[in-house]
Amino acid sequence: MDTKGFRAALGQFATGVTVVTAKAENGDRIGLTANSFNSASLDPPMVLWSLKNDSTNFDVFAEASYFAVNVLAADQVEVSQRFSRYVEDRFAGLDCAEGIGGVPVIAGCAATFQCRNVHRYSGGDHAIFVGEVLDFEVNDRTPLVFHRGDYTVTMPRPAQESGESEIAGGYVDDFLLPLLARAYRLFGLPFYEHLNERKIPRDEWRVLATLSDQSCTRDELAWIIRMPEEILDSTLGALFDQEMIAEDEPRVEGRLARLVCTPRGSRRVVKLLAVAKAREADVLADFPELEQQDFKHMLRSMIARLGGSKRQR
Ligand SMILES: Cc1cc2nc3c(=O)[nH]c(=O)nc-3n(C[C@H](O)[C@H](O)[C@H](O)COP(=O)(O)O)c2cc1C
Repeated sequence: MDTKGFRAALGQFATGVTVVTAKAENGDRIGLTANSFNSASLDPPMVLWSLKNDSTNFDVFAEASYFAVNVLAADQVEVSQRFSRYVEDRFAGLDCAEGIGGVPVIAGCAATFQCRNVHRYSGGDHAIFVGEVLDFEVNDRTPLVFHRGDYTVTMPRPAQESGESEIAGGYVDDFLLPLLARAYRLFGLPFYEHLNERKIPRDEWRVLATLSDQSCTRDELAWIIRMPEEILDSTLGALFDQEMIAEDEPRVEGRLARLVCTPRGSRRVVKLLAVAKAREADVLADFPELEQQDFKHMLRSMIARLGGSKRQR
């Protein structure tokens, strides 16, 4: 048997992550991370999970009348780690309630199942525990996922029902460049309309917003903003004329002038930034916080990989 291959094949079955808890006869709280959890029966409601025979908690689970399955949320990786490693007290500082039979129920989970421990079967080097669900709780939290030996989170599958089904997998729907371009255009549209209504050219907004973050020389700005030189120079000219930008101090011999936003320019940026942020909040509202962070992280990493990060310059 190719054990490594077998593990890899099992790892393709994406699971949630749970911490199964119980209370020992001496009152100690015990628990371990388990992804072998699954549903077993709907009526009566039953669940199952398996425990390795050499678990330090084996005897407690074998004798316990009750156990609880705590389905971890995406922000509980640390909980999963502490319940899968040797830690003096896995419950130290953890917010827990007392469930049926005094079994610890961990706060902040995506779901919890409180069970009567009804069957135990031998399954090779593991034992399969079956619990009758006495009580459960479901919370509106993104669950933590385990896949290919690592933690991950769910991503909604792109809708196939939409009119785009014929092109799924094709250039338009699967290739990153058109996806980025379409997302960029659709995302930016209402904001750019807002700029149009106020007769503010997009290029002026881009230059102003960049300078509101940092002062820089014209060449640094050209590098960050990637705008054709002629357009950049005419945009800078227009912004100077409107007294939106200035050079930071009188030129010193040999030192390149740094461009800065004037108070007037800053006021314009603040107003427009509020509109841009509202648009972002609107678009991202349906995505869980963690996915939003992951998405931005991916874009930043991609920019860095493509050599566009400021730090890599
Ligand atoms: C994501 C994940 C899933 C796991 N699933 C199981 C499982 O289903 N059953 C099991 O016995 N161990 C599982 N483990 C390993 C145990 O959590 C780990 O061996 C733990 O230290 C056991 O503690 P104990 O010996 O104190 O019971 C898993 C570990 C991780 C990180």
